[in-house]
Amino acid sequence: MTTTPATSPQFSLTDDQREVRAMVREFADARIAPNAAAWDRGHVFERSLYTELAELGLMGVCVPEEYGGAGMDFLSYVLAVEELSRADAGVGVTVAVHTSASTLPILHWGTEEQKQAWVPRLASGEIIGSFSLTESGSGSDAGSMLTRAEEQSDGSFRITGTKQWITNGGHAGSFLTFARTEPGTTDASGVSAFLVAGDASGLSVGRVEEKLGLNSSNTVDMVYDAVPVAASDLLGTRAKGFRIAMQTLDGGRITIAGQALGIAQAAFDLAAQYAGERTTFGKPIGSHQGIAFKLAEMSTEIEAARALTYRAAALKMADLPHTVEGAQAKLFASGVARRVTGESIQVLGGYGYSKEFPAERFYRDAKITEIYEGTSEIQKLVIARRLLGFDVR
Ligand code: CAA
Repeated sequence: MTTTPATSPQFSLTDDQREVRAMVREFADARIAPNAAAWDRGHVFERSLYTELAELGLMGVCVPEEYGGAGMDFLSYVLAVEELSRADAGVGVTVAVHTSASTLPILHWGTEEQKQAWVPRLASGEIIGSFSLTESGSGSDAGSMLTRAEEQSDGSFRITGTKQWITNGGHAGSFLTFARTEPGTTDASGVSAFLVAGDASGLSVGRVEEKLGLNSSNTVDMVYDAVPVAASDLLGTRAKGFRIAMQTLDGGRITIAGQALGIAQAAFDLAAQYAGERTTFGKPIGSHQGIAFKLAEMSTEIEAARALTYRAAALKMADLPHTVEGAQAKLFASGVARRVTGESIQVLGGYGYSKEFPAERFYRDAKITEIYEGTSEIQKLVIARRLLGFDVR
């Protein structure tokens, strides 16, 4: 059962967008949802799934056809992540990081040579993409990273440092890596972006993260031990890499809002179905106001989050500023996901707390949407800075 509306006066999806959503939903219901509990419990990263997703065009939904993608628009991609996350949020984040944090920056800032070298392989699912920014001591304050890229006499670089919480790291063939190229700097001004191959010498997987949820996704430390990179592997302009990270996250945050939306929708659908079947005091619990009103509030919050998310996607597609709107969408949708998944457990009562139903998985998976791609506090900082014009810290 699902209650996602096809249209609303503000956001009438195009036929193509509706088709993508229906196709992903059908695939996710058949191939992903039935396995999600087992992947969660077994911490299974199902590599073959991403080959199947690529065959459906879902590893490059909004990548132009000339680079091997499906040639759809950004909202179609957000819809795909939303639907994948409805079935399994770990799959949702794998595709999200692969696409918006890895493939799209190459399309945006890459030279033609870099695009040809990387994008078709990413879009075809031959390799999975990753985004290597965060370190143990620099999460929210990303610009204070310690990883350095030392220039060699021939103009190449060697990257040394350890990145942490790297989604897809253990399975990735490409790492968009941020490192300090300007000695003497300690802030965002000295950071450059590099394209690093998964099999580069000196690059290895460190600790594998044990997480509260998202167990079907892969999160690891990546150790860079003097990893050699050519000058031609620099993405964009030297020392302007932090802007690439920020602009990449502007789009990525819209996708994470879509992921949060998918998790919330799944939790709502489960609760609504349960409320129609479970009886207490001689009638379905959904006909008690205590539960009915809860469901009414949950669905209202989800629709508000959906409107913010699709609006931010529409702005991005129109090449209009979307930093604030993407941050607002993520801030709100992630809070909705946490609240709705908690309420879904409440509707299911003891069954919600048990592993017999997926409500508890939705709850565990939802929490991370308030943390990664910028915590809710960072979203507020981004919004407040732009709206007020102060350097809020
Ligand atoms: N677009 C373009 N440029 C931007 C920008 C944006 N949205 N935001 C900042 N910049 C530019 C600034 O203009 C400035 O450039 P100049 O110096 O050339 O003028 C430069 O970037 C530095 O900006 P700030 O001074 O604002 O930087 P700051 O150090 O104060 O940090 C911050 C700003 C918003 C707090 C930033 O550090 C931030 O977003 N932190 C959170 C990091 C984050 O989201 N991490 C997520 C990790 S990835 C992940 O989670 C993936 C996953 O696994 C799911």
